[in-house]
Amino acid sequence: MRSYKIALIKGDGIGPEIVEEAVKVLDAVSFAEGFELKYEELLLGGAAVDATGDPAPKETLEGVKQADAVLFGAIGGQKWDNLPREKRPESGLLKLRKEMEVFANLRPVTVYDELVNASTLKPEVIRGVDLMVVRELIGGIYFGEPKGNDGQKAFNTMVYTKPEIERIAKVAFEIAMKRSKRVCSVDKANVLDVSQLWRDTVEEVAKAYPEVTLTHMYVDNAAMQLVRDPKQFDVILTGNIFGDILSDEASMLSGSIGLLPSASVGEKYGLYEPIHGSAPDIAGQGIANPIATIASAAMMLRFALKEDAAAERIERAIKQALSEGYRTQDLSAFDAKEVCSTSEIGSIIANYASK
Ligand code: IPM
Ligand code: MN
Repeated sequence: MRSYKIALIKGDGIGPEIVEEAVKVLDAVSFAEGFELKYEELLLGGAAVDATGDPAPKETLEGVKQADAVLFGAIGGQKWDNLPREKRPESGLLKLRKEMEVFANLRPVTVYDELVNASTLKPEVIRGVDLMVVRELIGGIYFGEPKGNDGQKAFNTMVYTKPEIERIAKVAFEIAMKRSKRVCSVDKANVLDVSQLWRDTVEEVAKAYPEVTLTHMYVDNAAMQLVRDPKQFDVILTGNIFGDILSDEASMLSGSIGLLPSASVGEKYGLYEPIHGSAPDIAGQGIANPIATIASAAMMLRFALKEDAAAERIERAIKQALSEGYRTQDLSAFDAKEVCSTSEIGSIIANYASK
């Protein structure tokens, strides 16, 4: 029997609840498709700080490399906000991404027809939206040196090297080739030198993909265009911080940030994570939406394990649950037939996925 090792990082806040539902669904589809998943839980973020004093313990950084893929929930919370930066949960996640060299963060934004009324934007603006944010994940201002804060003056450095830009641009063009063959590269080249290098390098990479139409957009304009006319986008290629911001914005096209999955991939490893945070304010109440994590598990099956049929089962089951009117709290105002708890919607999706 095909067998895979999955590292589970539940994390903080709603992390454990949503990962548990994803596991429920994974178990259902692996059984249905005749393969086996073996899980190993690893600590990261606040949970790891509490247990070991380190947001990214060595055991986790090594453990993920023994796995075929990593499924991650969310990290962070007020409890740890006053710790020095290197001890904060977020630093643990950044360290993990860096250690795994997952430089490409793929954030697909699709609008489920069933939820076209759930967005704050007009249905005609968002119906049929299908775009992919390709965010560079282990460079840029998140990691640039020098950086510092002496209490009077603080600074970070936005830095990209040409090879870093080339490799993420290639990912975006490859993805575009399998989609509508349009890449919009987002930068701030009217102000930032780093963005000028970004733009020039993306232009160079584009030469190898004559079928793909490349456009460039300044990030401020892109933020506006995303809400004005999101359907103009196919693949959005951008750096770390712009991608962070634009993907949160883009998530609201779908109606809830609780819906959007992501895959963080590199040469060797893959980390699959919902784009949302740990939502400590609603943790433990059974009202979190696990769909983003369940959909991330589907991406994991497809990209890391090549179990496409199982991934399709999950994606179909999510659509079915939504079209039957099952809604978690965040979406309860939109054509809900029944408002479900985190674990109820997980069970419904697992059940549909097993059929
Ligand atoms: C995300 C998150 C992270 C990021 C935080 C938690 C470090 O916002 O995955 O988008 O900024 O990358
Ligand atoms: Mn973010």
